[in-house]
Amino acid sequence: MTLSGKRILLIIGGGIAAYKALDLIRRLRERGVVVRAVMTAAAREFVTTLSVGALSADHVFTDLFDRNDEHDVGHIRLSREADLVVVAPATADLMAKLANGHANDLASTVLIATDKPVLMAPAMNPKMWSHPATRRNRATLQKDGVAFVGPAKGEMAESNEAGEGRMAEPLEIVAAIEALLDSRPKPLAGRKIIVTSGPTHEPIDPVRYIANRSSGKQGHAIAAALARLGADVRLVSGPVGIADPAGVTTLHVETANEMKDEVEKLLPADAAVFAAAVADWRSETSADEKIKKVAGEGPPALQMIENPDILSGVGHHRKRPSLVVGFAAETRDLVRNAEAKLAKKGADFIVANDVSHEGGVMGGDRNRVRIVSKAGVDEWPEMSKDEVATRLAALIAERLKTVVV
Ligand code: C5P
Repeated sequence: MTLSGKRILLIIGGGIAAYKALDLIRRLRERGVVVRAVMTAAAREFVTTLSVGALSADHVFTDLFDRNDEHDVGHIRLSREADLVVVAPATADLMAKLANGHANDLASTVLIATDKPVLMAPAMNPKMWSHPATRRNRATLQKDGVAFVGPAKGEMAESNEAGEGRMAEPLEIVAAIEALLDSRPKPLAGRKIIVTSGPTHEPIDPVRYIANRSSGKQGHAIAAALARLGADVRLVSGPVGIADPAGVTTLHVETANEMKDEVEKLLPADAAVFAAAVADWRSETSADEKIKKVAGEGPPALQMIENPDILSGVGHHRKRPSLVVGFAAETRDLVRNAEAKLAKKGADFIVANDVSHEGGVMGGDRNRVRIVSKAGVDEWPEMSKDEVATRLAALIAERLKTVVV
């Protein structure tokens, strides 16, 4: 989805997060978006019209009764000459105004006059965010069709408080904008799809664990690609260093057992994609205290036991999804091993990748896969993990087309 040439009217509310609106303008302009900004009086206490104007390369609109602005553009045209209206930061006050239909300054008037979709990125103190009045306003706005991105949990800038209320990061807002402006068909709308991704960490003691080199890039990209096709995606992720994908509900787990529990709680679903590199074994016991190195005693012996096979459990489950997709990371006999896995694990497809391949699939950005199914082996050329994800999501959509919701 390209944003180039799209027009966004950005309403900047008054909050410390207004500084992030400056970066948002940069990120949007980098992508070829035409950004026009409206600032409330409170916003101008935090950032200046000079900065906003310089970054957007346009006049900044502030006053409902400005004779020049009303003559040149006018608040009605301002609100209509955009593809999308974005409010960032959306303060408790701006949310309350739109929820109740107030129009006593330029920002609130534009919001009520527009015939375009509205996206709000709230930012406020956690107590303000959880106040029943704000929750009511949010519910009303959602019912009216306003979209939201964030807020996230984290430290508040103005106090030592932590909690929900931090504005979404500019790139997350960009991803939400892309999703809203994406008018391509959504063949997976109404479909619930589970995706597992990343490694698992199997504890030995409170500070040590067994892990593997999986980055989660491929699984996360698949979750995002399925969401772009309209699916309700539940991503169960092991410990990874990458961000939760936009438009996806992400659940974080550490161990194979935790991943299995989360996946089973999510059933029934229309499809499930098992991209996680689940540890095959774990230490039978995990010590409560750090295991000490004792002179003369030598290293401890680790007794390993097998982890549950999550894919196989779901592949043979009484609530089995219509479509079950597994992965096979192999260093030899790729196709033969993948074919054997199909039946053993109860999968419809196995995405086989040769992890011995140059450049390193694990942690890298590119992948070369084969899709193994009962129908045979389909070899895909080497491509980025995002492209693999997009193609796989299209294949899943195609297969689910024949399944009645
Ligand atoms: O048998 P193998 O580990 O090669 O199988 C890989 C596939 O099985 C992947 O889809 C992986 O996510 C899944 N798997 C699982 N639970 C395990 C081991 C593997 O879901 N304990």
